[in-house]
Amino acid sequence: MSLLELDDVSVTYRIAAGEVPAVRGVSLTLDSGAALGVAGESGSGKSTLAMALLRLLPRDARVDGRILLGGEDIAAMTWGRLRAVRWAEASIVFQGAQHGLNPVRRIGDQIAEPLLVHGLAKPEGARKRVTELLEQVGLPAWRARSYPHELSGGQRQRVMIAMALACSPRLIIADEPTTALDVMVQAQVLTLIKELVAEHGISLIMISHDLSVLADVCDQLAVMYAGRVVEHGPSAQVFHDPRHPYAKALAAAFPTVGDPASRMAPQGLGGDPPDPMQLPTGCAFHPRCPVALPECASTDVELWPAGPGRVAACVHVRAKEEAS
Ligand SMILES: Nc1ncnc2c1ncn2[C@@H]1O[C@H](COP(=O)(O)OP(=O)(O)OP(=O)(O)O)[C@@H](O)[C@H]1O
Ligand code: SF4
Ligand SMILES: [Mg+2]
Repeated sequence: MSLLELDDVSVTYRIAAGEVPAVRGVSLTLDSGAALGVAGESGSGKSTLAMALLRLLPRDARVDGRILLGGEDIAAMTWGRLRAVRWAEASIVFQGAQHGLNPVRRIGDQIAEPLLVHGLAKPEGARKRVTELLEQVGLPAWRARSYPHELSGGQRQRVMIAMALACSPRLIIADEPTTALDVMVQAQVLTLIKELVAEHGISLIMISHDLSVLADVCDQLAVMYAGRVVEHGPSAQVFHDPRHPYAKALAAAFPTVGDPASRMAPQGLGGDPPDPMQLPTGCAFHPRCPVALPECASTDVELWPAGPGRVAACVHVRAKEEAS
């Protein structure tokens, strides 16, 4: 059984100006111990999707479709059950989370809190677990007595990862966990996440706008555009041989680690992401697509097979499949 199943999930924010369809009909599954990367440029709906998974969205957000965690419907959970699930079964490292640490409480107390709140340890046991967790994320035990301002950005992000690991969850959702860090520290934190999830058999959903980072850490990749998944498949294939023109542009925008040619010539994508309240008709990518056909402005695209274990939402992919 899959650990996580998303079936036709949509999220719509209701604001004074109208409705914002931030996530549109996303279906994905994640097996136990697997790592799924979710990529897409700013505003494509990545964080909204992540928050929907643990019902962390504001009240003005409507969620349609079904989200099953360990076979349990997230929407049907009582608040008590939901609280137990957050942290203990699935935890989330938020975008810029390192700034969310309480400035006036010691690191150790903050890491111990979920253990005590969920009754998973007594104070003495929690202290021992904090030492263990700090070691796992590469920080010395004495750091438990430090305050957040005494740590660097990278060290604070390690603390956030320790907090996410505290209750031994089955799933960690990491939303741009390294965006605010410099390249060297970013690489260290990513390696750390990769090792920890592999070592402890934790499933991972990692969100980033950087496909190369995700391809390095995750087995599967989903590329989002304007709230939809436009390509999904094994990460090496999606990154090195993308089928959707947007995924191609995204892959070309970031240099491949260890490939000097791509480092010297990263390519960008013209135009801006669409306003979700004024989505283009047909394929939402058509105003920016370098290979758009006249029919793209009116054809309803869907995810078509794009090779073994792969799907992509582009008429060229459909035509290729039909021809083969
Ligand atoms: N609370 C909210 N109310 C209304 N609209 C929102 C709200 N939060 C996000 N949105 C809109 O939903 C869309 C998706 O936002 P989201 O934060 O999920 O994108 P993202 O892919 O995580 O972007 P980024 O890479 O910048 O973090 C955007 O158009 C955003 O403006
Ligand atoms: S369906 Fe058309 S506009 Fe959309 S990605 Fe494919 S070619 Fe481009
Ligand atoms: Mg985000």
